[in-house]
Amino acid sequence: MPKKIIGFSKLSREEKIDWLSKNFFDNSNQAKSILDIYLNSNKDIQAIHDSFSENSVSNFYLPYSLSPNFLINDKNYTIPLVTEESSVVAALSNSAKFWFDKGGFKAKVKSLIKRGHIHLSFDGNIDVLKEFIDNNRSDILKSTDNLTMNMKKRGGGISAIDIIDKTSELKNYFQLSVDFNTSDSMGANFINSCLEAMAKKIDELSKQYDGFIKNCFNLNIVMSILSNYTPDCIVEAHAECNIDDLIDINGTNSNDFAKKMKYAFDIAKIDINRAVTHNKGIMNGIDAILIATGNDFRAVEAGIHAYASSNSKYESLSECTITDNKFRLGIKIPLSIGTVGGITDLHPLVKLSLKMLGNPSSRDLMCIIACVGLAQNFAAIKSLITSGIQHGHMKMHLINLLIKYNANKDQIIRAEKYFADKEINSSSVFEFIKSHK
Ligand code: MEV
Repeated sequence: MPKKIIGFSKLSREEKIDWLSKNFFDNSNQAKSILDIYLNSNKDIQAIHDSFSENSVSNFYLPYSLSPNFLINDKNYTIPLVTEESSVVAALSNSAKFWFDKGGFKAKVKSLIKRGHIHLSFDGNIDVLKEFIDNNRSDILKSTDNLTMNMKKRGGGISAIDIIDKTSELKNYFQLSVDFNTSDSMGANFINSCLEAMAKKIDELSKQYDGFIKNCFNLNIVMSILSNYTPDCIVEAHAECNIDDLIDINGTNSNDFAKKMKYAFDIAKIDINRAVTHNKGIMNGIDAILIATGNDFRAVEAGIHAYASSNSKYESLSECTITDNKFRLGIKIPLSIGTVGGITDLHPLVKLSLKMLGNPSSRDLMCIIACVGLAQNFAAIKSLITSGIQHGHMKMHLINLLIKYNANKDQIIRAEKYFADKEINSSSVFEFIKSHK
């Protein structure tokens, strides 16, 4: 076991790798040679990547893929996607192609408010705290002036502040809840900086306020942070067609197909086992475009899953309805994302992704992302209720298994033919390689 190391971040890249090799790779060259292969030969590009994270010693590649033919609000998009799951892009592209001729996807942003909180402990009555905040509202807001100045020019800023009494759930616990419009940025840094400035001002004022608030009621700032729960930053998307237009799907009777799909969606509404997996399918597409556009997928994941539980029970995020001859899929999700700030101005591939999408506003990107989620969801359920998911999935996964078993070029070509009509799994591929030397 290695000894605790102090000052690791201060070591040079070479020293970090030496330490790693000594402690985990028998002093061999193994780690260094792999880490070096993944370094970018362009020094400027490498420097950009090194700047993204502390202790960075190499890069971690994931495929960067394209999914064309996405008709969204009557515009034809090609979607950039970063994912390692082999069948995701193929399924998404089929879905986009299918909906293209049926009018594509329509999407609309319903609300754009993001929220942050100053978490307070206060040993007094809410009216006293409210009065203190109300009397000092303009000073508290003024403390953010240098931060909000540019944001205001872009139509954003702070739109509301409110004291929330949480003492029934936790002794002395209050929140100062602050609403933000962050324009085209995701705004995490902006929100957190504003909250910290406001918290500092509140602390200062509470000491001055005749010493009253601080001394008598022990007002204490616990922490100031944005919330990744964003139920007021919502986008809705849908796609619809005549039931008869579903005829080209796997040759199934279109009425039966529509009913079966609706039933599958209904199952996900009422059963948590299915809802979580159904939503994971949606996130396959959403995470992939979030990464390609430089957005914080962890924040979106956290917000979306919390939203899925907002009816006190975890539910699916999308629904399927059939009215007369109309088949409709819809999704409603919170999406706190941005198209400026963060790594959007730094990462060359992120810049490329945004350009490909027509340098969208954050509203436009919210619409695109919601449609990608819905399209991915349709593709997954379509497979599940027809051929089953493994057919397409394992077809795409075959190459991974072949590489894992060190197949040569000739074996790969033969395997692709051989497995066209046979079951693909780890042992069948292993047997194939053994018997086709
Ligand atoms: C696999 O990554 C995603 C699915 O499980 C989604 C679903 O079941 O709806 C196929």
